[in-house]
Amino acid sequence: MSERVRVLLSEEELDQRIAQIGQQISREYAGESVHLICILKGSIFFTCELAKRITVPVTLDFMCVSSYGSSTVSSGVIQIKKDLDESIEGKNVIVIEDIIDTGRTLKYLLEDLTKRNPKTLRLCTLLDKPDRRVTDVKTDYTGFEIPDEFVVGYGLDYDQRYRNLPYIGILSFD
Ligand code: IMP
Ligand code: MG
Repeated sequence: MSERVRVLLSEEELDQRIAQIGQQISREYAGESVHLICILKGSIFFTCELAKRITVPVTLDFMCVSSYGSSTVSSGVIQIKKDLDESIEGKNVIVIEDIIDTGRTLKYLLEDLTKRNPKTLRLCTLLDKPDRRVTDVKTDYTGFEIPDEFVVGYGLDYDQRYRNLPYIGILSFD
């Protein structure tokens, strides 16, 4: 069986859309600062590109939550593998995700972060697969809505591979 990757979103399309989201965040938080929480490892590329496009003061922290093993099927089991370094109390927090699929990871995470008393809490995702949602998680900023396909690249992996592709591609098995 061989794996094939077909381009879904090019580097140019991603750059353009991320710049737009950066501008929107900068406008909406004018006069304030934002604290971006990058959800490792998948959101690392998106977080870096987005942070560079935000013109209000930015601070960064990282969290690692597991929801997928080495398969393409959600296990529903969620675990905090690495917690934040700093308190989020009183901060304008924006959680940066790579993709929202069933929404289970984010549902759990947002409930957990709400208890830590941020001033505001918003969710920004590069990709959204609305067809797959089983929870009521709502995003505040979405890069692209995509069909129910397994995608890789731009931080997203299949069994830890393909994260370094500069585009988003659909993975298929022939
Ligand atoms: P959820 O809890 O089902 O929303 O899963 C979200 C997490 O599953 C993401 O942060 C990704 O790590 C992973 N995931 C979901 N769909 C894909 C995909 O198409 N490609 C790669 N990873 C995915
Ligand atoms: Mg993953």
